Amino acid sequence: MAIRDIVKYGDPRLVARNEPLVAFDDPELPGLLRDLLDTCRAAPGLGLAAPQIGVNKRVAVVDLSVGTDPSQVIVLINPVVVDAAGLIRDEEGCLSFPDITELVERPERVTLEAFDEKGLRRTLDATDLLARAFCHEVDHLDGRLFIERMSSLKRGFVLRRVLKRQRQGAW
Ligand code: NI
Repeated sequence: MAIRDIVKYGDPRLVARNEPLVAFDDPELPGLLRDLLDTCRAAPGLGLAAPQIGVNKRVAVVDLSVGTDPSQVIVLINPVVVDAAGLIRDEEGCLSFPDITELVERPERVTLEAFDEKGLRRTLDATDLLARAFCHEVDHLDGRLFIERMSSLKRGFVLRRVLKRQRQGAW
């Protein structure tokens, strides 16, 4: 078990390019997935993307049960949103923006194509909170943060809070 430090907003690794995984026998993959899940559960959070622990690869995990139901763990490797429909605005947070939640508009339903940890290609359909989590993590892998999905008013509000905490040395 390894709980890693979570990279916060302002760190260039959060917006760097994330390389697709090309070899599923990559000896570092099992450890990366374990660290993502351990760190996500400990935070606690519903999902975590590799760049959030400083690894710029297209790998993320989602677990709406936050470690209480292993059957709900979803590994997303090289995920792509292939279909999306509807829009819902709801409160959303991000472990790279501790203690901040804001209203963010996301698709109500999405379909992803992604590989699992064994290298099997899967088509994943999701609605509501799971759709939101998928979109949030795919955005991370595209170097896009949830503040970019907010209205400019709310984005400004969040960034002022971040700046204040940075000045206080509390970020
Ligand atoms: Ni996030």
